[in-house]
Amino acid sequence: MPEFQTSPGMRDILPPDSARWRQFQSVFAGVVESAGYGEIMPPLMEDLGVFQRIGDATDVVTKEMYDFTDKGDRHVALRPEQTASVCRAFAQHRPPTPWKVFYAGPNFRYEKPQRGRYRQFDQVGIEVLGADDPYLDVEVISLGWEFYEKLGLQRVELLLNSLGEPEDRARYVAALETYFRDNIASLTPESRITLEKNPLRVLDSKREGDAGIVSGAPRIADFYSEGAAAHFAAVQQGLTDLNIPYTIDTKLVRGLDYYRHTTFEYIGQTLDSAQNALGGGGRYDGLVASLGGPDTHGIGFALGLDRTLLACDDEGVFAAPDPSVDVFVVDSTGGRQALRITAELRNAGFSVDRAFENRSMKSQMKAADRSGASVALIIGSNELEAGTIVVRPMRGAVDVNRQREVPRGDMISEVTKALIVAVKEASA
Ligand code: HAM
Repeated sequence: MPEFQTSPGMRDILPPDSARWRQFQSVFAGVVESAGYGEIMPPLMEDLGVFQRIGDATDVVTKEMYDFTDKGDRHVALRPEQTASVCRAFAQHRPPTPWKVFYAGPNFRYEKPQRGRYRQFDQVGIEVLGADDPYLDVEVISLGWEFYEKLGLQRVELLLNSLGEPEDRARYVAALETYFRDNIASLTPESRITLEKNPLRVLDSKREGDAGIVSGAPRIADFYSEGAAAHFAAVQQGLTDLNIPYTIDTKLVRGLDYYRHTTFEYIGQTLDSAQNALGGGGRYDGLVASLGGPDTHGIGFALGLDRTLLACDDEGVFAAPDPSVDVFVVDSTGGRQALRITAELRNAGFSVDRAFENRSMKSQMKAADRSGASVALIIGSNELEAGTIVVRPMRGAVDVNRQREVPRGDMISEVTKALIVAVKEASA
């Protein structure tokens, strides 16, 4: 066992998985760029205060932050999410509104690691700042939905709720608090602690001991103002117009404090219920102002890459891309020919690998096999002298009789022909 291993909850993403991650981000970028979102790349680390604005009653802020004092005596933290950074960036740069951005990258939360829950995890997400229109909520929700469709996932459920205007939410929280206090004896000890910090989060409890009391709790829908009810009705109408199925879940309060009006979550139905949220988001007001900017409406979501890939595995979709190269060059004359041939082929647009250290012919052919190349190009002293090269198909029936010795000058066209045959054979 080597002295060092990755820290708990942190992983190396190795090939071919890393190519799958890149593909995931690129499919996401394709979906949101075609809706007018531009990429923002905020730093991985910010002043702790930026993230404290997420809410001091949330686990993310109170228990899970990777914070430390840097050499300049600044109290900084690794980002636990990117919404707060996007709002800080908006307050700092004041771009024209609506500001539509997307992001991709790692976040850090000191959580208890388990399948689907890590201390370093990746998200892709979008945020829109400066527009308060229910049809924007629909656009945002539909882009997440479209992305899951592009991945090929079918067992995703969209949960939808509204937390109303800030005043509705405040009246609701007060009513909840009274209700839970009146019934405190029926709450689990964990939920009694949550109640002290944030009565809303008690609704989030997945503990069986809380199920009875939570199901009888007051419902947010009874507290909506006229404006909040109209906003929520328009969101639902819009989703119906786009044929996006959803389930209203009045207990969906989400883990961060900043939400107002629409909240939503995409649930992976194949995953364990404790980690089945593939992504989530909602509308938030007040975050930009709390970071020193003007009063600004915001809405967005973040989708967890790690968990979504687990769901893809469960459904057998969005496999890692095939890492094979087109051509593998085998050179038994010392390696210089392979150097020139690979450069020439790569310039012509082929993906090409080769062997090093002047290994035996047999060992180089084994490496060619492992590379998954469709074609091997072989050059030995005879070919070098004759100005030729051998083209050998590597897939399907590997048979020396199928290999051809061709003039070196025809290499590119011969490789092209052999690859076309390989593709045809593979799809036959
Ligand atoms: P969140 O619900 O905290 O929201 O995270 C969004 C998604 O990130 C989760 O649904 C989950 O898939 C993934 N995730 C979170 N924590 C972990 C973890 N420890 N390990 C693996 N995956 C994880 C936010 O982060 C908000 N910023 C979303 C948002 C954007 N709201 C408005 N705009």
